[in-house]
Amino acid sequence: MIQSASRLLHINPTRFQSDFTTLSAIGATLDGGVDRPALSAAHLAARTWFAGQVQSAGLEFHVDKAGNHSAILRSADPAARTLLLGSHLDSVPNGGCYDGALGVLAALEVLRTVQDAGLELPVHLEAIDFTDEEGTLVGFLGSKALTGKLTPADLQNPRGGRQTLLDGFSRAGLAEVSLFSARRDPAGLAGYLELHIEQGPRLNQSGIQIGVVTGIVGIVSHRLSFTGRANHAGTTPMTERKDAGLGAASFMLAAHQMVLERFPDCVVNIGSLHLTPGSFNIVPGSAEMALECRSANQTQLSQLQAALLERARTEADRFGLGLEIQALGQHLPAPLDPLAQAAISAAAEERMLTHTILPSGAGHDAQNLADLCPSGMVFIPSVDGVSHSPNEFSHWEDCLNGGNVLLGAALRMAWL
Ligand code: HGY
Ligand code: MN
Ligand code: MN
Repeated sequence: MIQSASRLLHINPTRFQSDFTTLSAIGATLDGGVDRPALSAAHLAARTWFAGQVQSAGLEFHVDKAGNHSAILRSADPAARTLLLGSHLDSVPNGGCYDGALGVLAALEVLRTVQDAGLELPVHLEAIDFTDEEGTLVGFLGSKALTGKLTPADLQNPRGGRQTLLDGFSRAGLAEVSLFSARRDPAGLAGYLELHIEQGPRLNQSGIQIGVVTGIVGIVSHRLSFTGRANHAGTTPMTERKDAGLGAASFMLAAHQMVLERFPDCVVNIGSLHLTPGSFNIVPGSAEMALECRSANQTQLSQLQAALLERARTEADRFGLGLEIQALGQHLPAPLDPLAQAAISAAAEERMLTHTILPSGAGHDAQNLADLCPSGMVFIPSVDGVSHSPNEFSHWEDCLNGGNVLLGAALRMAWL
């Protein structure tokens, strides 16, 4: 069933914007962002609000054993498969209002619009909020559980810390052993679509309204701990120090230069660095850092990871330091489905919106769905390409366009 232009459905702009404004106030920070790390009180408050919206819309509400929260609009056919539409309500610490939240609200809005129009579809529509997309606990915890990719090992030494994870489970009432039963039979999934801000500069710089995502990067995380010798900052000769901070700093600069010179299509990031004991007058005995690297190509990602860890060992040796390397998980790069891409492009065209194809430098839950069912992502422009920051911003017209393209693409995918 392809909609004729005259009967083009549109999401309800007032309802959509009211939801966004209300949700942005949950876990709001003073500088205009949100702070809703996965399973934190603020994140759970957002989920409670979402559940209320689902129930007041008269939609079925469901929470699975991984804490994924869903609204469901059932097809008249009980044997129908499910078309998932979603994203995530958790945020990075002190993040922006659009990352994840826009996609969950747009998904809910699609269900309400189809419900309001009384459309009968051959699929169940499900708007889903995945648990811990951002990896402040594990990383893609909810989508990994739903796709059967989560392993017990993922939970033993997660990048957010084991105790942080257990505290989150306790707040949310989740049982570690039950997480794995959240797995869905892929045969029951008709597809997955996600609306998301680009979180980069390309659409904003080109003035193009819609991004049709071709694929998502792979991500590898490590914790590196350089160990030297804490000592007196005033009396220890400069030539006799085992300064863990120097080794860490030297590695940071070398890693940045390596990627620029040898891996120009990749990125590396050291998002945190902690020196201990951490006093003005003590040579740092220990330096612990959070290392992440990304590539759209798995072979290249493995090569980059190996080259970075080898360089870390070299810098540790250079400064007479020990080095402990902890692998904290990885997410494979994923191409997105051509049929889903075509559905998104057609939905943009029928709304006379400019669109282009582009890869995603950010990770998304879609990369876990991509090898199980036809999965696609709709991007809208991020002003100045800023994200993971309170300054994250997208023009509301672009958010509306994205919601309507998600609606149009969903109606196409429903009939595939
Ligand atoms: O880190 C990412 O790329 C995503 O925002 N979780
Ligand atoms: Mn996101
Ligand atoms: Mn994010």
